[in-house]
Parts: sequence; C-alpha cells; structure tokens
Amino acid sequence: MALYPLFRPLAFALDAERAHRLTIRALKLLPPGVPARPDPMLAVVVAGIDFPNPVGLAAGFDKDAEVYRQMLGFGFGFVEVGTLTPLSQPGNPKPRLFRLAEDRAAINRLGFNNRGQAAALTGLGHRDRCAGIVGVNLGANKDSADRIIDYVAGVAAMRGVADYLTINISSPNTPGLRELQDQGALGALLDAVIETRGAGPPVFLKVAPDLDADQIDGIAKAAIDRRLDGLIVGNTTISRPMLVSKHRSEAGGLSGAPLKPLALQRLTDFRAATGGALPLIAAGGIENGVDAFDRIRAGASLIQLYTALVYQGPGLAEEISGELKRLLKLNSFGSIAEAIGTG
Ligand code: FNR
Repeated sequence: MALYPLFRPLAFALDAERAHRLTIRALKLLPPGVPARPDPMLAVVVAGIDFPNPVGLAAGFDKDAEVYRQMLGFGFGFVEVGTLTPLSQPGNPKPRLFRLAEDRAAINRLGFNNRGQAAALTGLGHRDRCAGIVGVNLGANKDSADRIIDYVAGVAAMRGVADYLTINISSPNTPGLRELQDQGALGALLDAVIETRGAGPPVFLKVAPDLDADQIDGIAKAAIDRRLDGLIVGNTTISRPMLVSKHRSEAGGLSGAPLKPLALQRLTDFRAATGGALPLIAAGGIENGVDAFDRIRAGASLIQLYTALVYQGPGLAEEISGELKRLLKLNSFGSIAEAIGTG
C-alpha cells in the first residue's frame, strides 16, 4: 500500500488496460485479505445487509471476480464484481481505456469484456460468505436477441452466490442498453428480475447520470413500485465537462473527478424523486472523505469508487473511512445512519 507511489509511475508508463491487467495479476499473487471489521460509527444496514463501512469498490475493477478477496482486505466495506454477461465476450476493439491524468479521470469504452458468468461462478461458488460482502453486477451480451432474458439468466445464475445483485442498464458502451431505462422496457425488465430473484438476495439497479427529469421520475416510480432494494447513482457519463487531457475526445464513458458535480446532482435528483423510499448508493468522482460525506448527506447510504483508486492507490478505502469518521464527529453525528439525507 505504502509502495503505491513507487508502483504508480511504472503503471502509468503502460497503456491503461495493460496496467490494469498487470495489477489484477499482481493482486492475484497476494493472499486473501482480512475483511474490514464493522466500525461502530461507520457500520450501516442497507437492504438487510450489515455493511462494516459504507465504502465500496465499484463494478468494472474486478470484472471476472478474480481479486475481490484481496480488495476486501484493503478496507472496502464491500466489493462489486462484474459486469458479468451470460456468455463470455471480448468487448470493443483496443485501445478502449484511457487515463486522463491531468483531469484525474478516465474514459472507457470496454463494452463488457468478461469471461462470462460460468467462469466467474467457479470462484464465487466457493467463497466464504462470512469473509466480506460481494455484490454481482449483471449485464446483457452485446448480440443477445433478448436482453431481458440475459438479465434473468444472470439473476438465476448468481442469486445463490451474491450478497446482492446489480442490474446494470447504464453502460454507455453496449449500443441500445441504456434504452432499458425507458419506462415500458424498465417495467418489464424489473418484473422479470424480481420474479426470478424470488427469495434471493437484494437487487439494486444501476442508472446513468445522463438522465432528464422525466426519466428520473419514471425510474424512481418503477423501482419503488417493484420494491427494488436500491439504486446505484450512477455509472459513467457520455457528457463531456471541461477536460484538459490528451485523450479528452475519446468516445466512451467518463469517470473520475470531472463526473463529481453531475453525479452529486443526480443523487440529489433521485433522493427528491424517491423521497427516501429506497436506499441510494452513490458513485461517480468520489475521491476523498469529503466527497463521501457530501453524498451521504445528499441521501446515499453507501458509496462506491473506482477511478480515484487508480490515482491514489489501495490505501484509499481506509483513508476515506478515517475521514468519514472525523467528519461525522465534527458534525455531531453518531453514525452514518444519522447523517443520511441531512444535507
Ligand atoms: C467502469 N464502470 C463500470 N460499471 C459497471 O456497472 N460495470 C462495468 O463493467 C464497469 N466497468 C468500468 C470500467 C472502467 C475502466 C471504469 C473506469 C468504470 C463504472 C464504475 O463502476 C463507476 O460507476 C464509475 O466509474 C463512476 O465512479 P468513479 O470511477 O468516478 O469513482
């Protein structure tokens, strides 16, 4: 962890995707970590799950569920693996992942490259269910004839091994996927997912930050009507705020610091649209304890991050937990639960 300042320049000298692949390989050499112990101030119950702290690793880092044990050992309260599609698929042509270092950002158009659900199941099936919280993020294959059937297959395959499931309909890199957020399609999708889930784990829906007011209301209503367990707000953006880095014009989803204002605004919008009727999980540009605290005060019960990890290294989860505790105390809150939605 302390070695990250040495590791970073080496990794940054490589193409971003290659650096990521090497990082995963290096992590696989480490023994499984000891998961975070519940912290009296930071522990939070969401959808019936006891989270030891609210700081999660967002989907996309450990797409194939190879290193979630190691990542749990870095202090994350939970790790979301995936996106996993029913069948393995190669994703888009390379290059397709770009570091925007001057902007503390990334652009990716990976397109759900993954080894498929069956391969991931071999690692997830044997896991110790007491050793940390693992969510499984589900997607649809690019050339699937019926995408709803893909989500149903994912729920059926993963409901026995996941602590929670995320229905990801917000990747900008699978053509047409985000249309599942539209009202008619979303209702049919959620009905099918909830029926298949049965008595299985909680189901979260991950939405895009690129939504207008009508879409936000439609999603909020559909989620509440079906008693969904939570909304993750949200994925990468196809919008382009001011960026300075060389790769700023690449196509794909933007993540990291420049996404922060939009992600916070969408979280606030969803809090207003849901009136606190279901838990919200914040993601997008969270880099430090202040960002995490702002999201919690704006209505999030949990937070997730990915891009900041690339720039700051694996000590970040523990650092944010420490800062969160300090901020809670400073503002006279005794727990995360007390602070949610008070902003
Ligand atoms: C992602 N993200 C993502 N999300 C998802 O639901 N499924 C996925 O497979 C991926 N893949 C992925 C790859 C890469 C390289 C990045 C940078 C991001 C989105 C991620 O989970 C998160 O929602 C956004 O990146 C916003 O958070 P950060 O990165 O700004 O903290």
